[in-house]
Amino acid sequence: MANPNAGRRLLPLLSTPHKGGRSALTCQFRCGNACAHDVANTTGNAYFGDVVKEAVSRRGVLRAGALGALVAGAGVAGAMPALADEPAAAGAEARNGGGDIRFTAVPPNKDDALRIPDGYSSSVVVRWGDPVLPDAPAFDFDNQSADAQNKQFGYNCDYVTVLPLGRDRALMWVNHEYTDESLMFRGYTGGAAATEEQIKIALAAHGGSVVEIERAGRTGEWKLVTKGRRRYNRRVTAQTTMKFSGPAAGHDLLKTAADPQGRTPVGMLNNCSGGTTPWATVLTAEENFDQYFVNGDKVPDAQKPYISRYTITTGTPSSSRRFDRVEERFDLAKHPNEANRFGWIVEIDPFDPDGTPIKRTALGRFKHEAATTTLARDGRLVVYMGDDSRFEYIYKFVSKNRYIPGFDRHNRALLDEGTLYVAKFTGDSPAAEIDGSGKLPSDGLFDGSGEWIPLVSGDKSYVDGMTAAEVLVYTRTAADKVGATKMDRPEDMERNPVTGGVYVALTNNTNRTAAQVDEANPRPSNKHGHVLEIVERRDDAGERTFAWSLPLVCGDPADPGTYFAGYDKTKVSPISCPDNVTFDRDGNLWISTDGNQLGSNDGMFVMPVRGKERGHLRQFLTVPVGAETCGPLVSQDQLSVFVAVQHPGETDGATPDNPSSHWPDGDQPRPSVAVVWHGKGKKVGA
Ligand code: FEO
Ligand code: CA
Ligand code: CA
Repeated sequence: MANPNAGRRLLPLLSTPHKGGRSALTCQFRCGNACAHDVANTTGNAYFGDVVKEAVSRRGVLRAGALGALVAGAGVAGAMPALADEPAAAGAEARNGGGDIRFTAVPPNKDDALRIPDGYSSSVVVRWGDPVLPDAPAFDFDNQSADAQNKQFGYNCDYVTVLPLGRDRALMWVNHEYTDESLMFRGYTGGAAATEEQIKIALAAHGGSVVEIERAGRTGEWKLVTKGRRRYNRRVTAQTTMKFSGPAAGHDLLKTAADPQGRTPVGMLNNCSGGTTPWATVLTAEENFDQYFVNGDKVPDAQKPYISRYTITTGTPSSSRRFDRVEERFDLAKHPNEANRFGWIVEIDPFDPDGTPIKRTALGRFKHEAATTTLARDGRLVVYMGDDSRFEYIYKFVSKNRYIPGFDRHNRALLDEGTLYVAKFTGDSPAAEIDGSGKLPSDGLFDGSGEWIPLVSGDKSYVDGMTAAEVLVYTRTAADKVGATKMDRPEDMERNPVTGGVYVALTNNTNRTAAQVDEANPRPSNKHGHVLEIVERRDDAGERTFAWSLPLVCGDPADPGTYFAGYDKTKVSPISCPDNVTFDRDGNLWISTDGNQLGSNDGMFVMPVRGKERGHLRQFLTVPVGAETCGPLVSQDQLSVFVAVQHPGETDGATPDNPSSHWPDGDQPRPSVAVVWHGKGKKVGA
């Protein structure tokens, strides 16, 4: 095939400009050098400080478990239904988000190891390349093939959820966010020099996996099932046939030569975090999809403002992976709508290995990070979602109809009909007191009020100049127009099952200037990020207004511009770049980080959010050199913590011939999901 971009691709791999502490490899392969691009949001609206305005049966076991989480009062997100329904051993305060956390914190380190507290054990559940389908070959680093990768566990694991098949057996879903070809293949230089087989392997290493796991003994250890039929095991890739549903399905903007009806997209890309529905399906979030396309400069002029809003460059080609050399659809000069078919929330049923994944258009299109589900007081389904780029927005979807336990067909349709909202935040302190130092304002808190602004509801658009379908396909532009608040990279969101508060990880934003700080994003050049709590009116996820505050302003606790919910900062762990959040059943907040800027490896932390221990943040584990910590999941029985160790060894200059990590097996680094448990079978953290 002719190479229209010969000589114009990004070269060389290791000299790509990147900001912050991330390795150049991470910047290039994970988010297509997003930090090197101009900020995509050039609207003048809403750094809100500038705005003076108002502010199993289908699996009986599983069904019961998911429902149990709902009855408990809040999120089903990360709802790992009770694997063993052990009553919480701690006192009332501990069961109330109030602590009973007793391990000794893991100190910051740069070790090439998974470090866990004394008295705990860990093991690897599944690695990149492990057989998923029963006929998959064993992994062989130097003899990879696309055929093998299509049957093996994919690369860079992210969102993890676990759904029981019984007391001691479960299905685990894992996202495969992106590939790092320079660590996957010896001598890889990218672009036109990549072999077609390498490109096909990369396509197959994206997507997600369903694997059966089983409990090992009576502890919290879980292992991959490696023998027998494993009827649910499945690979979903960048080449899996999917379908669109919801109001934008079939719209002209989604039609291509290969799909003139605009209803059957192929594949999913860059699936980062996600969520689990009350009916036990997975919602997986397509994030940095822009980097896979070439020739954005050749789309019709009318489309250019919309695609550049997603950082698809309308100048030089953006992709070094050159998927277009294997599949022409990735060339936007020939198929300008193909990029519109990515950036969605995809629903996948892990219990139906032949089921078609569904891209749910009612949930909008952006660089989706999470899709956390809960129920409004009246039973409507609510989905919270972040758009992870600098100065992007926080969204929620509220279904039109109510969830009916056990009525699957009805419940799935909830995701196709409802209202998509975007968040606007207002501070309650004088602007002069938000001075950029991180110093708390005189009322003692970065806090205020907010509202969810409607964007679209079915065929009705609330955005001037945009149709409903345009709002769904070009959601970022729609949110610009209604004055949403520009945030510091909204990543994962989770609802506390005990308190009902919705927590948002705001990873960092080194581009925010002193003139752009506001009470919800109070630090310029925000290297370390912060955590936001949203408390909706009446604790009702269906409400349109909320109060908010920042319980955690991250960094070195010795830095006066940090805040740990008022706790004694001499007793907390340093934390930088919160990315994913989850809760244990007692309501304690667990946080994983991506891109530590304090000189340590990334880690996972736990922090009580109520009582005397509120703000007592402690590091529970650290991941190996070059890795980020993803997909944290605390099992409902609180015996197991699952952690996705993404991109171990992804450091500047590392290659297969000169690896910077040998985790987990002493050989080439392999992204893997690990499980951590207390050696004496106690609750984790307690
Ligand atoms: Fe894939 Fe926003 O982290
Ligand atoms: Ca305040
Ligand atoms: Ca993430």
